[in-house]
Amino acid sequence: MCGIFGYCNFLKEKDRKEILEILCTGLARQEYRGYDSAGLGIDGDKPGEIVYFKEVGKVAGLRHRIAESSIDTTKTMISQVSIAHTRWATHGPPSVRNCHPLRSDVNNTFMVVHNGIVTNAAALRQVLQKRGFAFESDTDTEAVAILTKYVYDSQPDKRITFTSLVKAVLSELEGSFAFVFKSTHFPNEIVTARRGSPLLIGVKTDKKLKVDFVDVEFAGAEADAKVENLVPTSPTSRLAPPSAPKVSRRQSRNFMSEDGMPQPIEFFIASDASAIVEHTKRVLYLEDDDIAHIAEGQLHIHRLRRDESGKAETAIRSIETLEIEIAEIMKGKFDHFMQKEIYEQPESVVNTMRGRVNFDDYKITLGGLRAYLPIIRRGRRIVFCACGTSYHSALATRAIFEELTEIPVSVELASDFLDRKTPIFRDDVCVFVSQSGETADTILAMRYCFERGALCVGVVNTVGSTISRETHCGIHINAGPEVGVASTKAYTSQYIALMLMALQLSEDRISFTDRRNQIIEGLCALPAQIKSVLDKDESLRELANGVLANSRSLLLMGRGYQHATCLEGALKIKEISYMHSEGILAGELKHGPLALIDENMPVIIIMTKDSLYPKVQSAFEQITARKAQPIVVCNEGDTEIKAGVKTIRVPRTVDCLQGLLNIIPMQLLSYHLAIKNGFDVDFPRNLAKSVTTE
Ligand code: F6R
Repeated sequence: MCGIFGYCNFLKEKDRKEILEILCTGLARQEYRGYDSAGLGIDGDKPGEIVYFKEVGKVAGLRHRIAESSIDTTKTMISQVSIAHTRWATHGPPSVRNCHPLRSDVNNTFMVVHNGIVTNAAALRQVLQKRGFAFESDTDTEAVAILTKYVYDSQPDKRITFTSLVKAVLSELEGSFAFVFKSTHFPNEIVTARRGSPLLIGVKTDKKLKVDFVDVEFAGAEADAKVENLVPTSPTSRLAPPSAPKVSRRQSRNFMSEDGMPQPIEFFIASDASAIVEHTKRVLYLEDDDIAHIAEGQLHIHRLRRDESGKAETAIRSIETLEIEIAEIMKGKFDHFMQKEIYEQPESVVNTMRGRVNFDDYKITLGGLRAYLPIIRRGRRIVFCACGTSYHSALATRAIFEELTEIPVSVELASDFLDRKTPIFRDDVCVFVSQSGETADTILAMRYCFERGALCVGVVNTVGSTISRETHCGIHINAGPEVGVASTKAYTSQYIALMLMALQLSEDRISFTDRRNQIIEGLCALPAQIKSVLDKDESLRELANGVLANSRSLLLMGRGYQHATCLEGALKIKEISYMHSEGILAGELKHGPLALIDENMPVIIIMTKDSLYPKVQSAFEQITARKAQPIVVCNEGDTEIKAGVKTIRVPRTVDCLQGLLNIIPMQLLSYHLAIKNGFDVDFPRNLAKSVTTE
């Protein structure tokens, strides 16, 4: 759970100041992935030397640390490679010693940045320690750096290539990873590889890029280098020195200019496109078990394993064009990304519907699902699988799915789904909802369902993410990049995307025509209604700074469609304002939670008009009888609310869409509660945007 970044320039003069700026900005763009420490490794002044900087905390601290050092920032470099990392601790607490890059030895012979977890690192560490290697950190990554040196040193004539070396190392590892390696033995070369963690490479040339794919080398001498049984996976025993592989390089002209001459070129390696888009929009996404080698302005991709038949296959990785703009990932006039993203919702919901909803003829077209609609309709059940906010969006739309499709629907938390080894069958339709498309639990659940033959549908925000690539079909929610760790606009867009899916699935049912048309009309009015809820921002700020200012706990109650709103509102409040908050199904009040109620317990009750309104009214009576003074989220013009009751009024819409409006005051309230306490809204403690570990 970290952000990695690599930068290479060939025949392109850059001074060190520019290189450091590129690295630090690349990290800052990925801070949402982890921000407890940051570090980078660059070429030193002497040939082959590597120097590094590390600092606990955010990238700003690393910048400060570099500024205070005596490094000559004016030194120019025609060609160089450098690596950088922003960390979210998994092995070892946040500290300088655990900060990446991790090195193999005091000479920095091999330096590695890593996102993921090497699960057999403890075994590797033991074996390497027995061989006399000293460790200086608590991380799993350090074992990889040291193992790389061990393999290199074991080569009798040191003729191993960087790619073969890394390939040998990776074949000893278990777990998930994206790595970038840099070495004093291989100046101006970089090797990067992935299995289970995202990784992409941006390519920038001065002239128009003529190549739109890179060959993947399945065969070839480098890909064939075998260094087997280096470390038995478990339990540990001996380290057998590897045999020297053949050294040869396949000729490639992949980024040469038309006259066959090398041209100035830059490569940007990152965990996320947001770190690359300001430099270039031309990127290629690596697949699991790809190893990319960059040297002399050339990029070669190799496979760690052959295909199952053992035959060499040919394949390519296409160079794609990113569709996000740098402006989309900047804060603009807002103080925080979260605030910006809350305010973007009138627009982001339109983007989710764009080209998919025809408000004239009430038709829905989800291109990514079209070919699979008959299979989904024939499915015996729909299983939603997700985590956190994404789980809440599935919960919010379950009832409308059941109503419109008449297919049984279950909503699963991905971790629990896996823990239970839930039975899944070929006629199940499994829908994986994820903003990042990289959440480890959701990915594992998806692969579990895939293996069992179920139809796997992805509902993701991040184009090119693992879930979007590995599912059979799906919907991109098109909310735009979400940087704030607390998910806001992705929730409303997921909600709408799922609503569109339910609408599309039910288009063949005449009996639902009126209901469907009513919902589609509701969707049409939604952007303007969201705007009008955003206009209440000041009153929510007053609430946070007034009656709720000193609260230590806050209960959110509702039922039916609003149960998900309560859970999602409570999650927002706890994750950024660190206040205890709980979403309670109002129907469960009498079965326990009522005991919490007294005059000191702050409660928000969601009482917007739908068929369950009388039941929520009765919950209101029960808690006010116990002296609670609830704040009521209700519709504008609702005259049934007693005088003197504090209200948050929102426009009325169709019952199944009302949660889209009701969640917005909760998002704003959580934001203001956090600001009042001086908390870092975009980077709440202990959390990261993309949870790529189980
Ligand atoms: C909360 C939040 C998290 C994510 C969860 C799943 O604000 O953002 O609960 O929703 O980690 O992430 P994705 O949607 O990327 O799979």
